[in-house]
Amino acid sequence: MSNKENPYIPHMAKVEDTWYETHGERAIKTFRVVFEDEEVKESWEHLPGQCAMIGVLGVGESMISISSSPTEGKFLRFSVMRMGKVTQALHQLEPGDSMTVRGPYGNNFPLEEWKGKKILTIGGGIGQAPLRPIVEYVRANINDYQDLTVIYGARTTNDLCFKQELEDLRECQEVSSCHLSIDIEEEGWSHFVGFVPTLLMEVNPSPENTIAITCGPPIMIKFVLENLKKLGFEDEQIYTTLENRMKCGIGKCGRCNAGPLYVCKDGPVFNYATLKQVPEAFA
Ligand SMILES: Cc1cc2nc3c(=O)[nH]c(=O)nc-3n(C[C@H](O)[C@H](O)[C@H](O)COP(=O)(O)OP(=O)(O)OC[C@H]3O[C@@H](n4cnc5c(N)ncnc54)[C@H](O)[C@@H]3O)c2cc1C
Ligand code: FES
Repeated sequence: MSNKENPYIPHMAKVEDTWYETHGERAIKTFRVVFEDEEVKESWEHLPGQCAMIGVLGVGESMISISSSPTEGKFLRFSVMRMGKVTQALHQLEPGDSMTVRGPYGNNFPLEEWKGKKILTIGGGIGQAPLRPIVEYVRANINDYQDLTVIYGARTTNDLCFKQELEDLRECQEVSSCHLSIDIEEEGWSHFVGFVPTLLMEVNPSPENTIAITCGPPIMIKFVLENLKKLGFEDEQIYTTLENRMKCGIGKCGRCNAGPLYVCKDGPVFNYATLKQVPEAFA
């Protein structure tokens, strides 16, 4: 049965490749997986911003952003931070092993609506995982967009996700500019030193015909939103994605709510004009 007929059925997916983005207690490991069933592989459809429940049989499942764009091919990428039982079990998987994948879940970034606009992504830490598919999607369809600017930072060079890819983006002709930062000075680092919201002000993007999408630690998002407002962005031009803890993933248990919003059902992608009405969203 394809995922379109019933997105709640888990499918086996083989790990084709895997590598660590970061190391340490909360290491982040990326998995590139392919569905074992040819019919599921061919019929699977998702859009940037959507998530999937991925898991290890006999252990459990976790909601994880799909960090690849459908424009990249018939595979999925997930970048998983080691947190607890399920993510530890996922980190044990190596090429040739299998995981379960069900979905896709949640809404997507309205990239069709954004055609003709300038796209600005502002990410911090593992928050780049849901932004990466936007970057890849826009790069693949660059003639539909006015331009693409990427701003990304992490605490230290060891905490940067997709480091080589982002370095390569700086040379890539579809990307107008890619700005990287770390919080504290390090030997050999030639990019910005400071917090992501400060880098945003340095880059000083024009709000004219621009959509800004941000994801990262709540404190970063708070100051990025403040700075976007200072730069003249209207609420409607700003999007983010929330990662509230989820249980059922289908709007039944009430676990993921932020005020009246259910992140699993109404999100995870939200326009700031909506989120502004819900102070709990940034708690
Ligand atoms: C829409 C969505 C997208 C997500 N995308 C990603 C992603 O791309 N990569 C990724 O690594 N993680 C992502 N997460 C978070 C991921 O689902 C959890 O880290 C994971 O389920 C933890 O499972 P566990 O059994 O390993 O840990 P648990 O034993 O369940 O938890 C271990 C610790 O992590 C904390 N924790 C668990 N879930 C969350 C959460 N959602 N937010 C904050 N703290 C949490 C717990 O409070 C606890 O302290 C996403 C979550 C949602 C809802
Ligand atoms: S996870 Fe159960 S209502 Fe959202």
